[in-house]
Amino acid sequence: MLLIEIGAAFGQEKNDMKTKFSVVITAALTLAVGIGSISCKKKQPAPADAAAKGPARMDVTRAPFGTLPDGTAVDIYTLTNKNGLKARIMTYGAILVSLEVPDKAGVFGDIVLGYDTLDGYVKNNPYFGAIVGRYGNRIAKGRFTLGGVTYKLATNNGENHLHGGLKGFDKVVWEAEPRMEEDGVGLKLSYLSKDGEEGYPGNLEVKVHYSLTNDNELRIAYEAEADKATPVNLTHHSYFNLSAGARDILGHELMLAADRYTPVDKGLIPTGKLAPVKGTPMDFTAPMTIGSRIAKVDGGYDHNYVLNKPEVATGLAARLADPPSGRVMEIYTTEPGIQFYSGNFLDGTITGKGGRVYAKHFGLCLETQHFPDSPNHPDFPSTIVYPGRVLKSLTIHKFYAK
Ligand code: GLA
Repeated sequence: MLLIEIGAAFGQEKNDMKTKFSVVITAALTLAVGIGSISCKKKQPAPADAAAKGPARMDVTRAPFGTLPDGTAVDIYTLTNKNGLKARIMTYGAILVSLEVPDKAGVFGDIVLGYDTLDGYVKNNPYFGAIVGRYGNRIAKGRFTLGGVTYKLATNNGENHLHGGLKGFDKVVWEAEPRMEEDGVGLKLSYLSKDGEEGYPGNLEVKVHYSLTNDNELRIAYEAEADKATPVNLTHHSYFNLSAGARDILGHELMLAADRYTPVDKGLIPTGKLAPVKGTPMDFTAPMTIGSRIAKVDGGYDHNYVLNKPEVATGLAARLADPPSGRVMEIYTTEPGIQFYSGNFLDGTITGKGGRVYAKHFGLCLETQHFPDSPNHPDFPSTIVYPGRVLKSLTIHKFYAK
């Protein structure tokens, strides 16, 4: 295996951490990524074996992932923690391309939907793995008033604005800075969203910091600063399938730490009410199988839940489990809401990684966020970022198997 140390490209981080870790490009990985064929279910050493051989090598590697139609090169970074968990993130859309975590037998599987190649993401991506912004979720009629000015945003979901518009943060190329960190490995991504982009006011500097910790957490920390007041609602849009594609998500068990949700109209815009979930198919306060009541929910689950935790504290939002594989994911967040989307619009027309056909409910999203259409609901927690104030938000995905 050819190991090449990355020099200047990694900046001063490298010098700081050189004694602790080495940052490497693995030629074999470069080749594997280049031909776009990371397997979905790779047998890794069982924990006992791994202990005998010592921990996995913790590193961050970089490889080319293709070029966009305009010629821009896209890179993909592979983060590996000391337990062998791997997250692959590309600079296009800050997209989490794959996430390999072990099941109860120690077998690693890729638990997010996506494509093998960049081309798939560019041609047709229903936000697989992406960072969504400037405003994740919907703004009614793409319109809001701020400081006495009415702004008109791009409309891309019927008459409404969805997930940042026609070219949201999921479709731009981010600057990337890989990092070796005290408790794991990371990748800092940054993007400057210009004044007027998709109709939003002000320049917005956005930073998204993914970390894969040695406690088996994927942490996503967001920061944003604006030079004019603007609405901002950043989220991560992975479609999870904890069976690693063995079956759909209807048998997954979900717990949402939310006694209330925001009911919506036909266009999925909140009516403004916060309704109790108790006694309805929306209730996930105790773990429930997703498929058990989905038929009673018109169109399937695609709703924002109001989290019970205090507004900005990092509290438990969700626990998702796939009993046959034993994989569990817990989500903690500083955000006040979480959109539970049960993959209702997947319809079998997308063939994803490893040739898998993504039929309805083949993956689900748990998007930590502020509530949809907040700029038009003064009673909802505010999404406005003012100049001089830095927006900070954190979401943690914790993985284990039982
Ligand atoms: C979000 C929305 C859904 C859908 C998906 C992407 O979860 O709430 O309605 O638009 O994104 O397909």
